[in-house]
This record gives sequence, structure tokens and C-alpha cells, in this order.
Amino acid sequence: SIDISKLRGATGLITMDPGYKNTGSCESKITFLDGEEGKLLYRGYPIEQIADKSNFEEVMFLLLKGELPTQEELDGFVADIRKNTEVAEELVQMLNAFPQGAHPMGILSSLTSALSAFNPEKISVATEEEMYDAAVTLLGQFPVIAAWTQRKIKGLPLTKSDSSLSYVENFYQMLFNDGTEGYKADPVIVDAFDKLLILHADHEQNCSASTVRLVGSSHAGIFASISAGISALWGPLHGGANQAVLEMLEAIQNDGGDVAKFINKAKDKEDPFRLMGFGHRVYKNFDPRARIIKVAADNVLTTLGINDPILDIAKGLEQACLEDDYFKSRQLYPNVDFYSGIIYKALDIPTDMFTVMFAVGRLPGWIAQWMEMRQTNQPIGRPRQLYTGAATRDYVEMSAR
Ligand code: ACO
Repeated sequence: SIDISKLRGATGLITMDPGYKNTGSCESKITFLDGEEGKLLYRGYPIEQIADKSNFEEVMFLLLKGELPTQEELDGFVADIRKNTEVAEELVQMLNAFPQGAHPMGILSSLTSALSAFNPEKISVATEEEMYDAAVTLLGQFPVIAAWTQRKIKGLPLTKSDSSLSYVENFYQMLFNDGTEGYKADPVIVDAFDKLLILHADHEQNCSASTVRLVGSSHAGIFASISAGISALWGPLHGGANQAVLEMLEAIQNDGGDVAKFINKAKDKEDPFRLMGFGHRVYKNFDPRARIIKVAADNVLTTLGINDPILDIAKGLEQACLEDDYFKSRQLYPNVDFYSGIIYKALDIPTDMFTVMFAVGRLPGWIAQWMEMRQTNQPIGRPRQLYTGAATRDYVEMSAR
């Protein structure tokens, strides 16, 4: 039997909250979200205004520094990132050592962690300058590694960073540059890509951001902390949902397109199947990012002249769920990942690269969370538990078991 009176933590009684549904882990000035209202603010600015008027470079600055930059500040920030786009040659060898079918998220987290080996002086940070230096190092090298991961799984030669381009256009060309003379990405596509990255840039204390903070709270360096966040993002209940959504839509298509059949499967409590891209831990109203991304998805498909039957299945599924009592009563609406996969597919990004795209978007948010955690001297994260195992008993010799 358990002595409940022993459930005492360092500063009071222990609370049990599996999944931390009602537990705050920190104070934060970065992102506000109101799940009932479907509201999302970055540093106080509504996501709708940011997605409409800003760009990813500015959003990275805003998340990290707390304010919108002047032109001079932005130029300095972008220049600092550009100084850090050179990735160690040994990382190419590591990339080549992965088997062809390796999942890109595994490659990305490994190479991100490996960056600590090539930037040892940036692991231990004490001052603002050191934190900023570690941050721009990672912001510079990360898209290169992410793009190389796609080149690797597509069996294409690696591309180089082009410092004459914006952060997003450069990432895009590293993904897709086919080596033709004067290669130039379509500005409408780059714009939609920019929006996608903005919408993913931060989302307060989600599974991956909390992981970054928890690992970082032991004062492990930025590369190890972000690598842990990448692993957390990988799962299909979090960032991996965008890959799972597309696989689900394809499964519905291959099965003859009967949306109702899959909805019934998701409602069956004996069946572990869930509709991917529906529901959210915090949003119990429409995900504001989903509204914006839905429009961007339409624009991309129109620009590219794509008439994808998968999109019709997605629209049918969305409509049927909005009218279904099970989904209505549980306030399960499409989330951002329901639509992002449709854009990525249209851009010819391989399905298992979708979550890597999410990671590139989320990187500045993770870094901002990591910095804030260090700046506010957050104590090491160390939850307690309710022990339900055996009471004290005597060791049994092998011969007597
Ligand atoms: N399909 C069917 N039923 C669902 C779904 C779904 N996608 N999501 C939740 N439910 C049901 C649950 O079974 C539960 O039903 P019950 O009350 O009858 O037991 C109820 O809705 C509440 O669900 P919870 O599991 O308590 O919700 P929780 O907050 O723990 O989980 C989560 C949120 C993980 C996002 C969940 O909705 C889910 O698995 N969705 C599908 C995966 C997905 O799209 N993830 C991406 C999230 S967004 C992001 O990370 C960027």
C-alpha cells in the first residue's frame, strides 16, 4: 500500500497531471494562445497579421529578441545567420553513412546533435552574446542540413547555401535547385513556403518545446536540446501528423474514397485509429493557423495548376467531420497539419520529409524557448511521480525464484 501522506515535493504536495493537461511549466513572454477563442499571438502580434505582413526572417528576430526589428537590426541579424551557413565536411560523411531508407527525422536529429562536436565552444553558454552566437550558428546550419537530408533521400548531389537569397528562398533552392543555369524559384511558391514556416514558428509549451526546455534545463547545449526537440516532434501525435495525414488521405483514396468509413473507424473506441490532422490539445475551436494555411494551399494548387483528387478527399473529410456529432461534441477540428501536407505534396517534397519542414519552421521558436529558459534561470526540470509498484520486499536468490 502507498502512503499518500508521503506525496510531498520540495515545495508542497505533488499534483498528478498525466500529459500535463493542466500544468504550467514556466512563465513565458513569447507566444500566447487561447484555445477556446482560437487565438494565437507571437510576442503580442496576431498570427493573421504576421502571416499577412511579415516574413520568416523578421519572425525569427521577433521570437528571439521580443520586438520587431528596424531595417538595420534585421540586416545585422540576417548577416549573422549567413556567416554561419558553412557546414563541416565531416557532416557530409556522416550523412552519407546513413542507409538510403533512413527516416529524415532520424538523420536530422543525429546531425543536429553532431553539430556540438564541430562547435564545442558553443555548448556552454553564460552570456547573452554567447547565447545569440549559438543561436545564429544553428539557424545558419540547420536549413543546410535539412535540405541535404532531402537531397540524400532523393539520391541527388548536395547543394550549397546562396547568401544572396532570403532565408526561405535559399532553403527552397537548396532543396530543389536542379543545377540548371539561372535556376530561380517561383516567388508565389516561396511566399507560400514562407507562410508555412511562419505558422509553425512557435506554439508555446507543446511536446517538442517542452522537451527543448527540459533537456536545456540541465544546461546541455543548444545542439543537444534542439536535437531532443526534433525527436519529440517526430511522433505522429505531434509534428509527424503532417506525414500521417497524407498517408491517411492516400489510404482513403486507395480504399475507394469512402470518407464515412474512415470516420466511423475513428469513432470506434475499440479501434486505435484516429483521424490524423484532427483535434488539438489546446485548441477546442478552429486552429487559427489552419484557416490561413487552407487559403495558402488553395493558392499553391492554383499556381501550380494541380487538380489533386487527394484535396477533394481532404475537403470531403473536413466537411463530414464538421457535421458529425462525435467530432462536434469533442471539439475536434482540422489542425494546421491537416493542410500543410497538401502543400508539401504539391511542392514535390517527399512525404517523410514533411516533418523536417515543420522542424525548420519551428527552429526559431525552440531557440527562443531555450534562450528564455536560460535567461530566466529556470531550475532543472524534474517531475515527481505517484509510485504504484511493490512495497519493500526482500531480495530472492536465483535458486529460490
Ligand atoms: N480522431 C478521433 N478521435 C479523436 C481524435 C482524432 N483525431 N482526437 C481526439 N479524439 C477523441 C479521443 O479519443 C477522446 O475521446 P473520448 O472522450 O471518447 O475518450 C477525445 O477526442 C479527447 O481526446 P484526447 O486524447 O483527450 O485529446 P488530447 O488533447 O490528449 O490529444 C491530440 C490531442 C494528440 C492532438 C489528438 O487529438 C490526436 O491524436 N489527433 C490526431 C493526431 C494529430 O493530428 N496531431 C497533430 C496535433 S497538432 C501539432 O502537433 C502541430
